[in-house]
This record gives sequence, structure tokens and C-alpha cells, in this order.
Amino acid sequence: MAQRDLILLGPPGAGKGTHAEYLKEHMSYTHLSTGNLLRAAVARASDLGKQAQGYMEAGELVPDDLVIDLVGERMEQLGCGEHFLLDGFPRTTGQAEALSEMLEELSREQPLVINLAVSDAEVVRRLSGRRMCPGCATIYNVHRDGLDIGDKCPECGGELYQRSDDQPEAIHNRLEVYKQDSAPLIEYYQKRGQLVTVDAEQGQQQVSAELADLARRER
Ligand code: AP5
Repeated sequence: MAQRDLILLGPPGAGKGTHAEYLKEHMSYTHLSTGNLLRAAVARASDLGKQAQGYMEAGELVPDDLVIDLVGERMEQLGCGEHFLLDGFPRTTGQAEALSEMLEELSREQPLVINLAVSDAEVVRRLSGRRMCPGCATIYNVHRDGLDIGDKCPECGGELYQRSDDQPEAIHNRLEVYKQDSAPLIEYYQKRGQLVTVDAEQGQQQVSAELADLARRER
């Protein structure tokens, strides 16, 4: 089955991680989440993690050069038949340009960019209710699943926690940073003819099905 390399664009809480998990499971994508890679680096207290931690907790962007190197290393490891799904990268025009150059050097097609559109009010509602499993990384929500901090993950029994950047002040800052640094990428990719926008306020299953359909569609 033909499928496209993908970038999931959208504000914090748009559902990038949630739908990436679905696409990974149902369409064999290699999921590259810069947020997950950076959180793992922080947990290991690696040099990268130590440099990134302060920015992440405040809801600020980690400097471009660090993130571009991180993604570049992963891109070089991709096999030619392997399809990637980028979640949380690029987030600045500098990152988008670096990605485009990387793909040209690797002789890969430019990906389809899916903009997950969601309102600020829904972002705040989702992020304040998000709960994470440290064991299997499943993403839950208090409002939908009724599971809260300290409850056991139904998948693996891990103890659910709240991300440190899902506190009200950091959520507010992340939204502002998104509008200033990342929202301009919508126009950037529109001009390049790579962008489609999906209404991400629909039910989760409906959005996932729409994304899978777009991923399979020929150019
Ligand atoms: P990152 O981890 O990428 O965070 P983010 O972009 O802010 O996105 P989130 O993970 O918060 O949201 P999401 O869109 O994945 O939503 P989710 O699926 O969880 O980055 C974290 C930090 O790392 C950044 O702030 C920055 O410091 C740093 N960083 C990362 N990449 C970087 C880069 N490229 N450059 C520089 N710095 C970088 O869903 C949210 C909630 O909503 C969940 O509870 C979910 O269950 C629920 N939900 C999802 N879809 C639906 C739906 N359709 N209906 C109802 N509920 C839904």
C-alpha cells in the first residue's frame, strides 16, 4: 500500500501524539517525536537533556541547532522503504528549511504536512486534563477516560502522571510560543503546496481515520 511521509503540525494539545500512535500502529510509520526524544534525554540526564530541560519546563522552544541535530541523526538511520511521521518538528522556519535540505540530501520526497486545527479553549481543556503513562507512554485524559494522577494505566499498570509543562502557566506560554514561532509554518507549507488542514476538534477516531486516508492518497 502506498503511503506518504508525514509532518503533523498544530498547537500543543492538537492531538499530534495521539494520532501519531494510531498511524504508527495501523500503517507502520516510524514515529519521530522531538518532544518524546527530548523528554527521554532529560530523564537520562544526558548533555542534551541538561541543555533542554529548562526550556521545556518553561514551555519555551529548545534552540534550533540542538533539535535539528537530533532529527538529522534519526533521518540518516531511516531505510529507503521506511516512512516517517514527524510530530513536533519542524516548529520554526529555520527547522523547516533544515529539514527540506536534509530530505534533498537523502533523496527523499518532501512530506505531506497536516495542520491539526483546534481552538485555544480546547487546547487548554485538553492539556489540563492530559495524563500520561510512564510505562507504555499511552496518553489519557481525565475528561474522557476518568483516569487521574496516581491511577494505574489499564494497558500496563504504570502509575499515571501529569507532564510538568501541562501546568496553567506553561500551557499559556506554549500557546503564545506556538502562535509566534510555529503558526507561520502554515503559510510556509501552503506556499510550497504541501499543506492540508484537518478539523482536529472532531472525535479522535474520526480525525485518525481522516489522517490515514490522507496518508494513503497519491499526490
Ligand atoms: P511536545 O511534546 O512536542 O509538545 P506539544 O507540541 O506542546 O504537543 P503536546 O505533546 O502537548 O500535544 P499533542 O498535540 O501531541 O497532543 P496529545 O496527542 O497529547 O514538546 C514539548 C516541549 O519540547 C516543547 O514545549 C519544547 O520545549 C520542546 N520541543 C519539542 N519539539 C521541539 C522543536 N522541534 N523545537 C524546539 N523545541 C521543541 O493530546 C492532548 C490531549 O488531548 C490528550 O489528553 C488526548 O487524549 C486528548 N485528545 C487528543 N485528540 C483528541 C480529540 N480529537 N478529542 C478529544 N480529546 C483529544
